[in-house]
Amino acid sequence: MKNYNTIAIIGTQWGDEGKGKVVHYLSRNADYIVRYQGGNNAGHTVVFDNKEYILHLIPSGILEHKKCVIANGVVVDPEALYNEIQFLKSKGFNVTPENLFISDRAHVILPYHKYLDKVREETQKIGTTQKGIGPCYADKYSRTGIRISDYLEEDTFMCLLKKNIDEKYPLIKNFVSISRESLIKQIIKNYKIYSKFLKPFVVNTTNLLINAIEKGKVVIFESAQGTMLDVDFGSYPYVTSSNPTVGGISIGSGIPSKYIKKVIGIAKAYTTRVGEGPFPTEIKSKLQEVLRKQGNEYGATTGRPRRCGWFDSVIVRYAIKINGVDELVLTKLDCLKGIHPLKICIAYKYKGRLYYDFPSSRKIQFLSKPVYISTAGFKEDISKIKDYQELPKNVKKYVELIERYCGIKIKMFSLGRERDETILR
Ligand code: IMP
Repeated sequence: MKNYNTIAIIGTQWGDEGKGKVVHYLSRNADYIVRYQGGNNAGHTVVFDNKEYILHLIPSGILEHKKCVIANGVVVDPEALYNEIQFLKSKGFNVTPENLFISDRAHVILPYHKYLDKVREETQKIGTTQKGIGPCYADKYSRTGIRISDYLEEDTFMCLLKKNIDEKYPLIKNFVSISRESLIKQIIKNYKIYSKFLKPFVVNTTNLLINAIEKGKVVIFESAQGTMLDVDFGSYPYVTSSNPTVGGISIGSGIPSKYIKKVIGIAKAYTTRVGEGPFPTEIKSKLQEVLRKQGNEYGATTGRPRRCGWFDSVIVRYAIKINGVDELVLTKLDCLKGIHPLKICIAYKYKGRLYYDFPSSRKIQFLSKPVYISTAGFKEDISKIKDYQELPKNVKKYVELIERYCGIKIKMFSLGRERDETILR
């Protein structure tokens, strides 16, 4: 079997684990960086040359002048992508059809998807990002979606648009005050600008990736969101509408699963989630606000305060298992400074029974109580430390407990937002 140079970077919690920084760090040695699911619901914050960049659709490898791919499993809002490319260009980054490739099979998000996202939130509150992600994937699976190749053909697009408006407007008008004509106008107003602009970037990304991988190029697959937001394996229904787990790579990019060589899981040193849904280790005291401030835990896409809690080894263990994680990266350890004691959840308890695996029942997910172990906190600023051995003893103890309960060695630590605030072990 050939030795492929591919790496999957997977979030092991509810997203926001710091994947953007890790991808940016690893992209120095990569040829291609690929997004395979999700859309502009994601927000990757990367600090580069002392400047902060928040990217939503384009992989952070673009900052390293690498080739970036938006594969077929992603849902693309043409307006959001257009704006993101303009933003990068305004900051001096070259984004051209030589370094950005967009799949002809990716589905497009249109304004009616965003309205439908709002409508759905009225009846089932998930706390979505309101970017139209769920309704766009729903269209894909109900076979009414519009793929980029259809979007670029004006006659096909207009015909599909009419069918979709006929189907969706009656529902939208019950919740949103907009006329049918205004909705259509909103969509076609900039259609020509976006379609003309996007066309040169659109290719068969599956062929591109298979060729690259066969030639031994280094290809990084970057998940958006995290395992617990996976529509199959996460805390359903409080999830996103795609598969951030490793299984999503093959479907979302068209490459055979045998090409995936290494899986790196990213875990934050504590847990956060945005939006509604069960969160067994959520901290209910004032300490939650302390952690939120220390970790700057506010949504990169919506600005919402993230819910914060203790490290949950039940979910990380589960993510390691279902993604086949080879190596774990622990991020934001520095943000726990001054918090004493530190707690790690090792199991859930419901009606006297212990759960070591993440339960499927939403009732148990909501009502189970975490079982914790505690260990001493630390007071030192660790962000400038470059050698694992130099970390304070209480930090190492905390790390060793995470390793013991997750059953994996941590290979890399991220101790700050800058790329070099990192320890390799
Ligand atoms: P949607 O993906 O906008 O449909 O939102 C569904 C759920 O996923 C909500 O709880 C969102 O807050 C959450 N979500 C979506 N994208 C992200 C992300 O990038 N980080 C964290 N949570 C996210």
